[in-house]
Amino acid sequence: MPVKKIDVVLGTRPEAIKMSPVVLELRHRENFKVRVIATGQHTDMLAQALAYFSLEADVNLGIMKSRQSLDYVTSSVLLGVGDVFDADVPDAVLVHGDTTTTFAASLAAFYRRIPLGHVEAGLRSFDMGRPFPEEMNRVMTDRIATWWFAPTELAKSNLLREGAAGERIYVTGNTVVDALRAAAERARKPSGPLASLGGAPFLLLTAHRRESWGTPLESICKALLAILELHPDFRAIVPMHRNPAVRDVMTDILGEDGRIILCEPLDYPDFVWAMDNCSLILSDSGGVQEEATSLRKPALVLRDVTERPEAVENGSCILVGTDGERIIAAAESLLSDPEAREKLLERCRENPFGDGLASVRIADALYV
Ligand code: UD1
Ligand code: UDP
Repeated sequence: MPVKKIDVVLGTRPEAIKMSPVVLELRHRENFKVRVIATGQHTDMLAQALAYFSLEADVNLGIMKSRQSLDYVTSSVLLGVGDVFDADVPDAVLVHGDTTTTFAASLAAFYRRIPLGHVEAGLRSFDMGRPFPEEMNRVMTDRIATWWFAPTELAKSNLLREGAAGERIYVTGNTVVDALRAAAERARKPSGPLASLGGAPFLLLTAHRRESWGTPLESICKALLAILELHPDFRAIVPMHRNPAVRDVMTDILGEDGRIILCEPLDYPDFVWAMDNCSLILSDSGGVQEEATSLRKPALVLRDVTERPEAVENGSCILVGTDGERIIAAAESLLSDPEAREKLLERCRENPFGDGLASVRIADALYV
């Protein structure tokens, strides 16, 4: 079997967390030569995630600048990744998910007729404005892809409906479960900002979505304050995304409250510990919906629509949007009513996001 040269392109924290298990699995096998190309759409958040898996990028384009525009990221990734492909043409390219790195790298592969594998293919919210621009990024990436690694049967059915060739769709599970298993094995005692929780019950909040910037994010933050008013024994931990559009709002509204720990992004195992040990997760993140489901933790999804309906239908996630009253009411029903909480968790059956062997299935599919 000749050696296949695979370029894995990634740019942001979730791509690093969810593609690291794939890189490690491919590197395990003699018939793949893997090059990790970081676009540097994220800097420190990307490095933090890769470091946890003891990985470094082979090439880093380092494109990030403060408050970067979508045009800037798209064009820099397209040009930069294209040059890297031209210098040493791979046999195949792998991308993940729905970021601007994902789409622009896919386009660079398409322009060179290099076959493309899309990991986490087929997710759809069916609303191009939410999440923005991720829904469009994933639709366009799927249009370009040669192989689709769909995390669930539902994702596969979305792809089939759009005309993807069934024999090149592989239902693998989501690689986040692979990553989560690795992190759980290395579970550690709370340190740093987590240690200062001092054993109190706590809420965990993350928010960063572009469509929530401004008023929706303000209302999320005010809702957190209101929930803490109703539950004075609780504390909250808020690992802030590095985006200044997010930080400025969070710091303004939450910065003065002594019960809230506003901190830097947590290392992956620390964040997993926080998800596992908090009383309630509040998040607009994509990956956190899958992780909360996998850990059977109640989570309020701070969005109006989700491309991960499995998390809501079969998991512990409740779609609440960004309206303050709705967030407070949903939190209240779970924090004050243990029965409601138990009922929610009873619904969780087999993990809809897989068994932690997605990377193995992806490597098997690429072996041919
Ligand atoms: C990006 C993705 C989003 C993904 C998210 C994961 C796009 C359009 N958006 O959103 O889909 O959910 O990553 O976190 O692809 N910054 C830093 N250091 C970092 C990372 C970001 O300072 O390590 C700051 C910079 O000022 C940067 C800004 O955050 O300009 C925005 O980064 P960007 O990648 O454009 O958008 P995200 O909101 O992070
Ligand atoms: N995460 C982390 N540290 C943090 C916050 C999040 O390691 O302080 C992880 C989280 O477990 C998940 C991923 O980052 O795997 C989600 O990233 P993000 O919310 O930035 O992006 P999205 O999933 O919404 O695209």
